[in-house]
Amino acid sequence: MGWAERSANNLTIVDWQERYLSGDTPWDKGASAPSIQPLIEEKPELFSGHRVFVPGCGIGHDAKELAKYGLNVVGGDIAPLAIARAKEENPHQVDFRELNILTIPESLVGNFDMVWEHTCFCALDPTLRADYVAAMWKLLKPSGVVLGVFFTNPDVIPNEGPPYKTSCEELREIFSSHFSLEWVDEPKAFYQGREGREHLMLFKRL
Ligand SMILES: C[S@@+](CC[C@H](N)C(=O)[O-])C[C@H]1O[C@@H](n2cnc3c(N)ncnc32)[C@H](O)[C@@H]1O
Repeated sequence: MGWAERSANNLTIVDWQERYLSGDTPWDKGASAPSIQPLIEEKPELFSGHRVFVPGCGIGHDAKELAKYGLNVVGGDIAPLAIARAKEENPHQVDFRELNILTIPESLVGNFDMVWEHTCFCALDPTLRADYVAAMWKLLKPSGVVLGVFFTNPDVIPNEGPPYKTSCEELREIFSSHFSLEWVDEPKAFYQGREGREHLMLFKRL
């Protein structure tokens, strides 16, 4: 993909800030995930009154869409420019924070009813997946859930990315250390070109 360099220990190094600075952000479709609205209409009980964290929120489309429905949303991203842009127009008062989702600040631990995942998991080097799962577990209240539209990018070879390939089976396995899989569904709407390449999944915190 040309997004990343490899470090000596073969970990992917992506300079996310540089991506935003140079405008090389092919993941940013200029709008929130199309699956959010139909999902909220179909399963409103999942969202009612919830405090939600959006990891790797980018410039905040999803976080703002969720906040539009009255949810109390915190969006976190490692790229300062993404967060600065997210804050520019923020009518529903999303709390945007520059942070590394793998080193969650103590003040956010156990703070959320839901994590909304969208193209953050697939952006991380696969060696960091277990850390991602543990971090999401830490963010959530005991009854919390991770709800995501997981981009599985099935067309690339393993370990080639980001975005990295995964599958529902692999996701269930990786999350099983800290979560139980409640359901898998197909999104009712998607960005052009992502048909059949993303899946809605709900994981409940153990
Ligand atoms: C593929 S982009 C997706 C952005 C957004 N979810 C969207 O759909 O537009 C991945 C995002 O994760 C952020 N990111 C990557 N590693 C991160 C980390 N360790 N902590 C916080 N954010 C991270 C990047 O800066 C980038 O904005």
